[in-house]
Amino acid sequence: MYLTLSRLDFILGLVLFPAWLAAALLVRRQAGRPTAGRARRTARIALVVLSLALLTTVAKLVVFVQLAAMDWVFVSDRRSITLLALLLPAVLATVVLTLPRVVSAARRRPEDREAALSDAERARAASVRTVLPPQITAVGALAGFFEKFLPPHRSTLLNLAVGIGLLALFTALLTVRARGRVRRLAQGVTPARRSAGRTWGVRLGTAVVALGAVFGLVSFGLSNSKLPGTFSMMQGEPDYGGGPAGGHNHLAGGQHLHGGSGSAAAVSVDSLKGPREGKPDRVFNLTAQEKKVTLASGKSFTAWTYNGQIPGPELRMKEGELVEVKLTNRLPGAIPVTIHWHGLDVPNGEDGVAGATQDAVQPGQSYTYRFRVEESGTRWYHSHQQASEQVKRGLFGPLVIEPAEQTRPVDKDVTVVAHDWETPGGTFPAFGTSDKLDRRTAKAGEKVRLRLVNSSNVTKTFALTGVPFKVTALDGTDINKPGEIKDELLVVGGAQRADVEFTMPSSPVRLTDSAAAGAGIVFSPDGKGDIEPKLDGQEFDLTGYGEATDTPFDAGSKAGRNFSLVFDDWLGFYNGKFGLRQTINGKVFPDAPMLMVKEGDLVRTRFINRGEEDHPIHLHGHHMLVLSKDGKKSTGSPVWLDTINVRPGEQWEVAFKADNPGIWMDHCHNFVHTGLGMVMHLTYEGVTTPYSVGGKAHNRPE
Ligand code: C2O
Ligand code: CU
Repeated sequence: MYLTLSRLDFILGLVLFPAWLAAALLVRRQAGRPTAGRARRTARIALVVLSLALLTTVAKLVVFVQLAAMDWVFVSDRRSITLLALLLPAVLATVVLTLPRVVSAARRRPEDREAALSDAERARAASVRTVLPPQITAVGALAGFFEKFLPPHRSTLLNLAVGIGLLALFTALLTVRARGRVRRLAQGVTPARRSAGRTWGVRLGTAVVALGAVFGLVSFGLSNSKLPGTFSMMQGEPDYGGGPAGGHNHLAGGQHLHGGSGSAAAVSVDSLKGPREGKPDRVFNLTAQEKKVTLASGKSFTAWTYNGQIPGPELRMKEGELVEVKLTNRLPGAIPVTIHWHGLDVPNGEDGVAGATQDAVQPGQSYTYRFRVEESGTRWYHSHQQASEQVKRGLFGPLVIEPAEQTRPVDKDVTVVAHDWETPGGTFPAFGTSDKLDRRTAKAGEKVRLRLVNSSNVTKTFALTGVPFKVTALDGTDINKPGEIKDELLVVGGAQRADVEFTMPSSPVRLTDSAAAGAGIVFSPDGKGDIEPKLDGQEFDLTGYGEATDTPFDAGSKAGRNFSLVFDDWLGFYNGKFGLRQTINGKVFPDAPMLMVKEGDLVRTRFINRGEEDHPIHLHGHHMLVLSKDGKKSTGSPVWLDTINVRPGEQWEVAFKADNPGIWMDHCHNFVHTGLGMVMHLTYEGVTTPYSVGGKAHNRPE
């Protein structure tokens, strides 16, 4: 956990309501104390709590201004404007009206501590202008807590109006209540002496029920997304965030998206295939089957595997080759599967997404993928049918494409797949099947390349200790002129890859997953020895690593499409179930925004994480060039990624060329989140799919 501005903003937001509620109650209570001495004591406590509440608010405002200065608020979150419009006047009123009275009450030294408060004092303490401002602020802070329900990207004016409207409403309601109390005070009725605890209990109960009802209604109303949905017919909002094709906004429910585009004739994903003819240079057979497997430590469990192995066999191929992979499903029961080539920009029809580019392959059946490999580097493959379950259980493996011309030969090329295996005894991180210390030999002077693949849902932090090293590729794309670094931690998001290279010294070198410090791989010349992993280094920063070089486009290029995507989490209903939904611009699949592009477009996308968890956002079929991270421009080597790990509070700007027509999934690769709705897709104008989520084939890409 690290503190970012937006996380701080969130935490302060959580404190805001309790702080103001406490302050409001104490301020009011003061007037009802039976003796002058006790009234003074209560005033003092009220003063302390009030100061804390004010401080929290000021801190929140400072953070808000900071975020605004980073172009954050106005990009990601106009909702904060609502809160501002609601809180600011109430807070000012508290400072001007309430604070001086509480201060003077706290300082007043009564002659007789046991005497009752004078009527004048009591009236002053209980007057509307004293007690009301903190109450309004408290209610405003509570309303602000529900701010996440407001849709982002609406107009600033609308948000302002909502804030001011709410402020007026609360003020009116509370004033009516407070007036009554003041009148009773003037008539000599002592307030705040609740005869029975029951009254408070009833009040509290009513408040809780009312709040719960509002919360339930609002969350249900805003989150009734249901499966099945399809990738070609969307009720979502393409071009969310603006772009020249804004006319696509707000399609009527169920309307066929592509019917109206009028441009190119409809093309089915079925026709976007790899070469059907020609003798393949490589043929692989992958059979999905259940298999009892055992980790190095002896823990065993029943896995779903390709060819009985976990991870599945490493598929090695060479740039330029025509590859054929025959998938056969021999899983028990009625479990269908697919294979998706993660990070490989194959033709859309070969992408292996159940419900988008094919029907899932049923038990007993086979399916053949054919594509020409036009790139090189570390990729991986996995089932894209019920991926949350199937990948977790083992239906994945590494895929390595050697470049047509070897530019950086190494003596040892080691693929390391980091996974979290779920066994009956718990979840264990492992490299491949090794959840213990794995010893390997490497002669001093040998060049070693480690291809790190994170096949788990969560971000992994790797430490390579004992030798300086270079990060030579990210997501399989080479880094230009990588420099040597030492002891920097490699943060690899779910589904991401990192290649590192080092020259073997005569002493041990160790690779460690920080989540399993006792395990890892130790390289040494004699297969003995060890070195303490260094897990406290600074994190590797990809925005300034290596040397800049030409790219087909850059931050200055004019983009044909601009998308802004805000990731968040909030309680609500999804598919009939209540839970934490993982939202994109406030929506979940199939209502999450669809990115609509035309072939040839340069597409610029901004990712913002306003939630509390990492979101490794993976776009199929394309590589995204990182333009900036948290407002900091990329200055080093170009970095091309297929998965952007957007951590809480982070903001990334990327761009890609729409040069691979089809319907492509674009989703969070933490498959738990995928299953909670964090799925959108990129659709080219004029492309349709005959497949749908659900249906006879039980297609469930997530
Ligand atoms: Cu690695 Cu949509 O997947
Ligand atoms: Cu996520």
